[in-house]
Amino acid sequence: MIGPARVRVALANGGHDVLVGRGLLTGLGGLLTRLGQFRRIHLFEDVGVPKALRDVAASSIDARLTRTEYGLDEATKSMASLERMLQDLASAGLERGDLAVVVGGGILGDVAGLAAGLHRRGVGVVQCPTTLLSMVDASVGGKTGVNLAVLADPTRVLLKNAVGMFHQPSLVVADVETLVSLPDRAFRCGLAECIKHAVIAGTETGGMLDLDALSSCLPMGPTTDAERLVSLVRENIGLKAAVVAGDEQELAQGAAPGRRALNLGHTFAHAIEGCEGVRVEIEGRLVHPSHGEAVGIGLIASARLGEAVGLTPPGLADKIQAVVARAGLPVHLVEVPDIGDLMSAMRQDKKSSGGVLRLVVPTREGVSMLDDPGDSALAGAWRHVRGR
Ligand SMILES: NC(=O)c1ccc[n+]([C@@H]2O[C@H](COP(=O)([O-])OP(=O)(O)OC[C@H]3O[C@@H](n4cnc5c(N)ncnc54)[C@H](O)[C@@H]3O)[C@@H](O)[C@H]2O)c1
Repeated sequence: MIGPARVRVALANGGHDVLVGRGLLTGLGGLLTRLGQFRRIHLFEDVGVPKALRDVAASSIDARLTRTEYGLDEATKSMASLERMLQDLASAGLERGDLAVVVGGGILGDVAGLAAGLHRRGVGVVQCPTTLLSMVDASVGGKTGVNLAVLADPTRVLLKNAVGMFHQPSLVVADVETLVSLPDRAFRCGLAECIKHAVIAGTETGGMLDLDALSSCLPMGPTTDAERLVSLVRENIGLKAAVVAGDEQELAQGAAPGRRALNLGHTFAHAIEGCEGVRVEIEGRLVHPSHGEAVGIGLIASARLGEAVGLTPPGLADKIQAVVARAGLPVHLVEVPDIGDLMSAMRQDKKSSGGVLRLVVPTREGVSMLDDPGDSALAGAWRHVRGR
């Protein structure tokens, strides 16, 4: 066992801890007692996580325990899955003061976190992220949500995270041991969010939040040395925790980005994810990009856009593209039905407000807000990431 290292997420309600280490899930029950004694606990489990590990985690819990398992993707990150989870919590008889625990990736964490926030107007939730992406990003910060199907437009598949709420976890337990079983492709997706954090951190940082230092550690994978994985996760959570603590509900206005900084690349990414015909090449096959793959391309597109409007220093977009490539992530879209579809998808993203598209672009110091750059600059950025 390594750790746990503790990162505090300081919030208006007092905040919570994030524990990072190796082998933590085997003693999950003991870690939960830090929060108090619970009569009933419901465990939401990701079928991707080996059953033996989930069983060990479950058997360490001393409470009336119920368990359900889910194998979700973006199409089933849906209202229907949310309803099933609400049924789980109702059937388990969870009351206020009881606890929901999620062991899984970012999709399960987002939907189950929302179910916990809605059940009886809110029960506590503990997130145990089991993908790199959910460790460094999704499990921290309290955003939960499901996608909404777009019924009226056949070129669009879904509106990402269109329904959701802030529901902060009481504790996050990130056990890097779980990454051992993670497919390489899913691991690489987490690196996209690590690259995002390094760009947000700017030039005055060290360790894994320095773009050059991170790049020199790449490629990394599920079998990378556990100490190094713990550092990667801890430092990334530290950055996210600091940003979230400064602007918990993303209410910052005007030039200071606040929590909106974390949206770097995401308005592009959500458009990519939501458009049916978009493809990237992964391991020789053309596939619809997953969230992390879309984020990698979104980071490059936002830097190209920033350079075009003079906010991003020349050369940073090339550098970001090189790091995304070193991480083994795609750097361009192979098939794009129509850039116009992507641009209209961007305008429908929930990050636009009052019809004004609010984007985040990289700068030397970190990031800056960019309001409605206009169609021609946007189309230029899309052309940069459109395949040859
Ligand atoms: N709430 C937030 O702040 C936030 C931030 C970033 C991303 N997200 C969301 O996170 C989602 C992506 O999360 P993700 O990248 O974790 O994808 P995911 O949840 O789909 O997990 C990827 C795959 O890995 C499997 N899996 C999970 N843990 C495993 C393990 N230990 N071993 C083997 N397989 C395992 C899952 O079953 C799934 O098939 C997106 O929907 C995105 O919108 C949310």
